[in-house]
Amino acid sequence: MAKLVYDENGRLLFTKEMKQEYTILMPQMLPIHFGMFRKLLELEGYRPLRETEEWTLEPGGRYYVTRNGSSLIAFRLPHGRPGGFMMTAAHSDSPTFKIKENAELAGESDTRLSVEGYGGMLCASWMDRPLSIAGRAMVRTENGIAMRLVDLKDIAALIPNVAIHMNREANSNMKYNFAVDMQPLYGEKGGFRGRVARAAGAAEEDLLTYDLFLYNPQSGVEWGNYISAPRLDDLQCAFASLQGFLTAEESRNACVYCLFDNEEVGSETKQGAASTFLLETLERICDALGLTLRTMAAGSFLLSCDNAHAVHPNHPEYADKNHTVRMNGGVVLKYNASQKYTTDAVSAALFQTVCERAEVPFQRYANRPDMAGGSTLGSIANTQVSLNMADIGLAQLAMHSAFETAGAQDTAYMVRALRTFFGLTLKVDGDGTYRL
Ligand code: CO
Repeated sequence: MAKLVYDENGRLLFTKEMKQEYTILMPQMLPIHFGMFRKLLELEGYRPLRETEEWTLEPGGRYYVTRNGSSLIAFRLPHGRPGGFMMTAAHSDSPTFKIKENAELAGESDTRLSVEGYGGMLCASWMDRPLSIAGRAMVRTENGIAMRLVDLKDIAALIPNVAIHMNREANSNMKYNFAVDMQPLYGEKGGFRGRVARAAGAAEEDLLTYDLFLYNPQSGVEWGNYISAPRLDDLQCAFASLQGFLTAEESRNACVYCLFDNEEVGSETKQGAASTFLLETLERICDALGLTLRTMAAGSFLLSCDNAHAVHPNHPEYADKNHTVRMNGGVVLKYNASQKYTTDAVSAALFQTVCERAEVPFQRYANRPDMAGGSTLGSIANTQVSLNMADIGLAQLAMHSAFETAGAQDTAYMVRALRTFFGLTLKVDGDGTYRL
């Protein structure tokens, strides 16, 4: 199998076929594109494991396991007895709109699709934008039921604004009612289920049900010092952490790469960061190697990787004065006294040292004390598997917009930092000493 080739900045040099499907700017983490992450792992020799089977793991082995086809944990084992798990976690989902089961809202001349919000999107950014639809369909087969990935690819829907002439308040006092303002116009008059069935390779009467979402199919662009693309939160981190994981030197720890679905809706699903997925995967690794998770976890470390808010050029007042972070300023280390971000002095000291060794700039972020920030993966995962963690990310603008903007250099900074992190042979003492 062909090995992947990387340049000195950790950027993947794509084969022609891969480039068409996947670029550093535009990985589309819908179920259909989740396959690209699996493909990258398999090209590097990672073997799929199934949760439904017993695992036989070999020292030096490379494996990955998925849950729900939307969360993924990849790991590689050292040749000797591992000292602990070196882990990263990012999320695979982004705010969007889910298409309801009885999808068609038939009007006199047009059909709309009935949708509800998934996560906290910026509604204005979704208006007047050509949208496509992807997800999965469950179809009846000769042997039972099968899951099929669906991607309509073509433009299928659009959420139209009301003209300024009819809503003079549109620029000063706009409120969005999801049941009224956010229902998209469908490109055709009816026939939605038939189209989904065709895309799933099934007859319409065999389409049982589906999980389908609107998505912005626009390609990412690199312009000057910036990149703009849909879903940078959190695919920029998902991609950068995978690159760091795949390109790191062998260490004496077990390296673990996690990608969790459902962060945007609170993580409390069977495959989210609040689930047992990570805990059970680590337990199974320990069982297979004759180790106990309690001792392993105490010597482990996890970096929760999720994008951060860059200081806004038009609104610098939203940033905390002493903790502003900027695009192209390097990897962001996030702090929060309430521990919504898991970073503390013990974990920050390690990440700082990682960045120094990688010769990567880093910057410190904290919310303004009068503004509640978002929460993310680390503190949630910590309730299942408790260990030293820090929260990091890359600075971006317009988080949860349908088209987000970030620094063109920052992806490579994170790749380098995480490559160094995964390559460390680290001995962690939970109370605050490390041997590196
Ligand atoms: Co995020």
